[in-house]
Amino acid sequence: MEVDELKGLHFKGFMAEEEAVRLYELAGEASGRGPCLEIGSYCGRSASYLGMGCKKNGGILFSLDHHEGSEEQQPGQEYFDPELLDPATGRINSFPAFRETIRNLSLEDTVVPIVSRSAVVARLWATPLSLIFIDGGHTFEAAFIDYSAWVSHLMPGGYLVIHDIFADPKQGGQAPRCIYRMALDSGLFEELRMTGTLGVLRRAAPGFLTLHPSLFPAHFEAERGQ
Ligand SMILES: C[S@@+](CC[C@H](N)C(=O)[O-])C[C@H]1O[C@@H](n2cnc3c(N)ncnc32)[C@H](O)[C@@H]1O
Repeated sequence: MEVDELKGLHFKGFMAEEEAVRLYELAGEASGRGPCLEIGSYCGRSASYLGMGCKKNGGILFSLDHHEGSEEQQPGQEYFDPELLDPATGRINSFPAFRETIRNLSLEDTVVPIVSRSAVVARLWATPLSLIFIDGGHTFEAAFIDYSAWVSHLMPGGYLVIHDIFADPKQGGQAPRCIYRMALDSGLFEELRMTGTLGVLRRAAPGFLTLHPSLFPAHFEAERGQ
């Protein structure tokens, strides 16, 4: 199956088509250098596009999710989907839908599910990653944990991709934008073009430091000016 054929399929999920296609392109480029990781599999929409990109290179996508839904996907919340409620436990379980998506697309040997909390897996992770896609919990705490626990595993030249970046708080929560800014302000990333709400950064080679203005405290700026 080619990526264009994915466009005609219906997926549960929260990602615009142009964003999904950009994920496909980035994974297609990055996965030749090492495995990719996504945080936030849900029912497999982004994993399908990332996975198709990886498959071109014989690469691997680790797709990580506890599959119990984010805050906004719980009963009574804005993005609750009753079809994902497990009657046996009374809790969300998106893993069966995720597996079905991956199986239907013959991506079982490309997309490796990891069913756990992001911070738990990060603790013992040791494999350098060519791409990290963050689309897990959208609270400030969750986004910060995902960023800080995983960013050191990104190889030089690797992509850090963050979903749901809204310049205007009226359009959406600000936690993804906050970690995007943190990454940029660290000086360790180059900013690439955004696609919709998808922010794309590339980790610079060792020794590279962008001279981002926020890295210079005001008093240092004053000294430099004299
Ligand atoms: C916005 S959805 C992901 C959407 C998906 N990328 C797509 O394209 O459809 C967020 C997912 O992150 C998962 N999640 C939230 N917090 C998490 C955490 N701390 N560790 C692992 N997964 C988490 C939720 O279970 C949920 O499935």
